[in-house]
Amino acid sequence: MRIDIITIFPEMFDGPFSHSMIKRAQAKGLAEIHIHNLRDYAVNKHRKVDDYPFGGGAGMVMMIQPVADCIDKLKVERNYDEIIFMTPDGVLFDQPLANKLSMVNNIILMCGHYKGIDERLREHYFTSEISIGDYVLTGGELAAAVVTDAVIRLLPGVLSDETSALSDSFQDNLLSPPVYTRPSEYNSWVVPDVLTSGNEKEIKKWQNEQAVDRTRLRRPDMLDK
Ligand code: ADE
Repeated sequence: MRIDIITIFPEMFDGPFSHSMIKRAQAKGLAEIHIHNLRDYAVNKHRKVDDYPFGGGAGMVMMIQPVADCIDKLKVERNYDEIIFMTPDGVLFDQPLANKLSMVNNIILMCGHYKGIDERLREHYFTSEISIGDYVLTGGELAAAVVTDAVIRLLPGVLSDETSALSDSFQDNLLSPPVYTRPSEYNSWVVPDVLTSGNEKEIKKWQNEQAVDRTRLRRPDMLDK
């Protein structure tokens, strides 16, 4: 799978993709992440990519041309399944959407900034728009990093069996049950007996009950789904 990210802050992606699973996914050739500096497509030598809003108002608006030129260039090179604009007024990102995106080959993630982006790009260029939550970030970069991480970890071969994505919270509309490791007693806090009993059937039953209880308590909305 290939993810192309368009941004005015390419340095923001130096960290998130150079560690752990996402680094390994790239090293194993399971995922390619390409960062494109929008200013390389700027309209003038001052690397301008934004302008004042028609009708007035505070804040600058991202211009059509640099974004269109960058996307057009990428589209000549390959077909894209989704060209996604990261924005707080997009569709809320969740596990089913991550699952869906992990099944396609090529995605563009466009990071928004300033007051917004020329609406004509939203009408004519983007195939969908994603928000990672009901709060406003300074730009779409962190949101694009979140989506990239959530999608790439689902690709076959990225996680080992024991960390399989299938047992994640949200995959079956349940939160994950609590987990424990050694020592079995710390400060007189003990691990639930059943987990050290060796009885696989009882352990599975306990884990399922815990998952349901935890979901009912913390996220009752998930049980309605
Ligand atoms: N850009 C700013 N805030 C955002 C959010 N919550 N989701 C996606 N992109 C954003």
